[in-house]
Amino acid sequence: MSNWSPDSWRAKPAKHLPDDYPDAAQLKSVEDQLAGRPPLVFPGEVRRLRAELARAAAGEAFLLQGGDCAESFAEFTPDNVRDTFRVLMQMSMVLAFAASKPVIKVGRIAGQFAKPRSSATETKDGVTLPSYRGDAVNATEFTSEARIPDPARLLRVYDQSASTLNLLRAYTTGGYADLANVRSWALPFAANSPQGEKYAEVAERIAEAVDFMRVMGAASSAEGLSRTEFYTSHEALFLNYEEALTRRDPATGAWCDASAHMIWIGDRSRQLDGAHVEFCRGVENPIGMKCGPSMDEDELVRLIEYMDPHNEAGRMVLIARFGADKVADHLPRLIRKVRQAGRKVVWSCDPMHGNTYTSDSGFKTRSVDKVLAELTAFMQIARSEGVEPGGVHFEMTGQNVTECLGGPGGVTDASLGDRYLTHCDPRLNADQALELAFLIAETLKSGGKVHRQAAE
Ligand code: PEP
Ligand code: CO
Repeated sequence: MSNWSPDSWRAKPAKHLPDDYPDAAQLKSVEDQLAGRPPLVFPGEVRRLRAELARAAAGEAFLLQGGDCAESFAEFTPDNVRDTFRVLMQMSMVLAFAASKPVIKVGRIAGQFAKPRSSATETKDGVTLPSYRGDAVNATEFTSEARIPDPARLLRVYDQSASTLNLLRAYTTGGYADLANVRSWALPFAANSPQGEKYAEVAERIAEAVDFMRVMGAASSAEGLSRTEFYTSHEALFLNYEEALTRRDPATGAWCDASAHMIWIGDRSRQLDGAHVEFCRGVENPIGMKCGPSMDEDELVRLIEYMDPHNEAGRMVLIARFGADKVADHLPRLIRKVRQAGRKVVWSCDPMHGNTYTSDSGFKTRSVDKVLAELTAFMQIARSEGVEPGGVHFEMTGQNVTECLGGPGGVTDASLGDRYLTHCDPRLNADQALELAFLIAETLKSGGKVHRQAAE
């Protein structure tokens, strides 16, 4: 990689990075401490994820990415981590069972602590303060003290990410994710809903198949049944943190951002000559790229060529996030250009960020109907453009929150306030997420074969 180093981004313009640390030396000292900490993920794992994503690019696997909009220190409990993991496991079972494809599970978890904000300041009752930028930077309370960036928060981000990963690794390999437990992943509060019952049916059929294999002596030798792969991801926004956790793989000499398996570039920081693209082009992690309505198709191809010069399937995941009303205006032109350029990419759909609005009751929300409408349109458009839908990207939680409108529990404008816990954008609750998984599964199943997107 020419002219690249973990800190070469510092010479480029960077959007959405906090520049108001009162004590630059203290930030530097925290960066130095982080650079001495153990990596959170390992290059071999990152390469395994790339190989799995290469299968998604070829239409042979499906990416399920999901988790909090913003993780927080306050909401961190082992139960919350377990419940997000459980819903993702349930969704992956539903999808894999219907689509007969492996599902690649990637959490927005164990590192998703820094947020780009539409405005640098927030005004309440005539008082204007710097915006909350995620627990990596400052605190949500509306006081001037809370909003001062504090470098020590980055050490807490690292520690919480390490603890979260430790739990996730135990769940994936320690028996909890054994397919024999497929019934027990259902969350107690969701078990009696229509989705819960539908899930119980799928779980029953899977459990019977596993029992049968066990009887035949096949299950004990099939490692894939007793454990699963679960990967982590977050937006590579706060580059000081990402740089501090970037390590060279002694075996290959390649650079790996050891803060997460996959990182992505947000829709607001994807400038070709900007700091975020500069950082991401040099690490071997799979790179997600959010594509919103302002993404120009020629620029998109240039971005892909810049970050993936060898056109390696599994490197780039394009995450379309247009909004239900805009997806038809933008997605076809982007897919066409990327196909014409012969690029091997995964096309994934984030049906959340283009559908956010403020409800009458004053909460930032999204309606499940719009989320589903964007997902459905995405899948239809992808197929009619000759591309197999490669994945989905959700903001969701295993908690029984009331942040998005509609869905199975019938969350209404009036009930949004009941359990509105998010630190940033509204998340699907477990019932809403599972319902969407069933609907995506239907579409995937009915899809039939489409052409492969790039020359093999
Ligand atoms: C996000 O994923 O939380 C986010 C800020 O998305 P986007 O960059 O697509 O707006
Ligand atoms: Co968000």
